[in-house]
Amino acid sequence: MRDEVEKSLLSSDEISRRTIEMASEITRDYRGRDLVTIGVLKGAFVFLADLVRHIELPLEIDFVAVSSYGKDTVSSGVVRIIKDIDLDVAGKHILLVEDIVDTGLTLKYLIGVLRERGPASVEVCALLNKPETRKVEIDVKYKGFDLPPLFVVGYGLDCAERFRHLPYVGVLKEFEGSNETR
Ligand code: IMP
Ligand code: MG
Repeated sequence: MRDEVEKSLLSSDEISRRTIEMASEITRDYRGRDLVTIGVLKGAFVFLADLVRHIELPLEIDFVAVSSYGKDTVSSGVVRIIKDIDLDVAGKHILLVEDIVDTGLTLKYLIGVLRERGPASVEVCALLNKPETRKVEIDVKYKGFDLPPLFVVGYGLDCAERFRHLPYVGVLKEFEGSNETR
């Protein structure tokens, strides 16, 4: 399986160092506020687990699951909530935690849905960001790494549900050298 993935894009050490930096920025910014981190399933489950363990504040954790890509690596642009959050977020500071921001359509939709529930604020923390493939503007307040428009897997990210458990971020070999994510 690992033969299909080019290992070198981001090592688990690089990810870990950056995650700790992001967590300390979040700790600094949210001191004294009611913080709710909301992970976007499934991709953000690894990043959220590592991130929150370095945030030195009281916080709540919830998850939302959306469907947009299906089994393909192609964005359909259609976003649908499959699993909603359970927590009441009214008056609280929401931090949406994403694995990667690509077109931005998923987050645009989720931010809109969550804003209607009366939170004190909604911000985004994403480990990975692909600025060149953005279709809608998203303010990613906490950003781990900017990537070129490649399709990446590992550290929570999948291709047809595979590779999520890899401890690093790699590029699928079939996408190497390609300038396209889709
Ligand atoms: P967006 O709505 O286009 O911004 O897409 C966001 C979602 O698409 C992410 O949460 C990922 O699940 C998925 N995605 C986008 N790019 C990649 C990638 O390179 N590898 C794996 N999943 C990706
Ligand atoms: Mg995702």
